[in-house]
Amino acid sequence: MSAAPPPPVLPYRHSVSWQGGSQPWHATESVLELRRVHASYGKIEVLHGVDLTIRAGQCVALLGANGAGKTSLLKVATGLLATTSGCVHLAGRHVNGVTPDDLARVGICTVPEGRGVFPNLTVAENLKMATYTGMALEAIESDAYARFPKLAQRRDQLAGTMSGGEQQMLALARALATRPALLLVDELSMGLAPLIVDQLFAEVARIVSEGVAVLVIEQFARKALQVAEWGVLLNQGVVQAEGSPDQLDEALNRAYLGTKRGRQFGL
Ligand SMILES: Nc1ncnc2c1ncn2[C@@H]1O[C@H](COP(=O)(O)OP(=O)(O)OP(=O)(O)O)[C@@H](O)[C@H]1O
Ligand SMILES: [Mg+2]
Repeated sequence: MSAAPPPPVLPYRHSVSWQGGSQPWHATESVLELRRVHASYGKIEVLHGVDLTIRAGQCVALLGANGAGKTSLLKVATGLLATTSGCVHLAGRHVNGVTPDDLARVGICTVPEGRGVFPNLTVAENLKMATYTGMALEAIESDAYARFPKLAQRRDQLAGTMSGGEQQMLALARALATRPALLLVDELSMGLAPLIVDQLFAEVARIVSEGVAVLVIEQFARKALQVAEWGVLLNQGVVQAEGSPDQLDEALNRAYLGTKRGRQFGL
């Protein structure tokens, strides 16, 4: 059996300007590219030849109903689910078979469905988890609190006792402490009040403006399409439609307006 290829060397991770400003990649450069990706759980194939491209500094919304394959696609992108065929490219390099750890080390970061914060640790302790990247805790905390002042007030509170919105802020803050080039957020708005969702999407827009490429996975299409510049609609493991927010909105309306599924998409 041939060994897994080495992880790519991605110069951009540490050169992404945190305060905005210069973007190290030309805007047309793809950060992540999935080509004709098939993936399965055991014998059951759930992705049937999916194409997806995310360019440097671009926000892409991945939309689709329950079970469409959104999380599975994210797992493929982060090395957690192997492809059965097709290619995954990171910054133009083939990365099929590269471990999740190596992909994280070169700049892919995920906020998983359900947020992934440690409920029995305080806010500060959760942030400390990101020091594995070599960044000092003080710097991580000051970044996090500047971005989300509410977290500063909650510094010594157990994460599990915070509101869902605050936990999502913590999850984002921890992810950003790794200085990702590509941030993948699964179900940003799940279970949250509309006002909090708006605040979180505004934060995503700011993160994108700082030069980070972002994939937001959402069921509520309209919210995601307000910040994304490109949308992809997944249906039963295939790309059903993709385009600019306007084009996708139109496609969603045409296919689903007035239907039960349409309500699921927030139409
Ligand atoms: N660990 C697993 N083992 C077996 N089948 C799985 C597993 N995870 C997901 N599936 C199946 O794969 C398909 C796609 O699921 P996936 O979680 O990727 O969808 P999703 O679009 O993220 O859905 P949701 O909106 O509910 O999060 C579904 O049919 C699901 O039942
Ligand atoms: Mg999912």
